[in-house]
Amino acid sequence: MTKTVEIAVDGVRIAAGEGTTVAAALMNAGVVAFRTSRTGTPRGPLCAMGICHECRVTIGGVPHRRSCMITVAPGMEIETAGAAENAGGAENND
Ligand code: FES
Repeated sequence: MTKTVEIAVDGVRIAAGEGTTVAAALMNAGVVAFRTSRTGTPRGPLCAMGICHECRVTIGGVPHRRSCMITVAPGMEIETAGAAENAGGAENND
């Protein structure tokens, strides 16, 4: 069984597989819209290899981090641009 770490997505604590990327953890939690474009269109991962920048989120207060290039860490706090509401939200693992 895969070990998990606890992270927070828009204030909701979820379990994420150790060693997975932030993008994979968010998608596994049901989040598909990570940010919004200038016109308000929901955006999410496209390339999953650091090129398109569509997967940007705020991690630990630092904006515009490419979630497909960062591995989850215990206690990591991730903020999306309302993705939780747009995509039905991450499930609370409490
Ligand atoms: S999905 Fe393209 S940079 Fe992350």
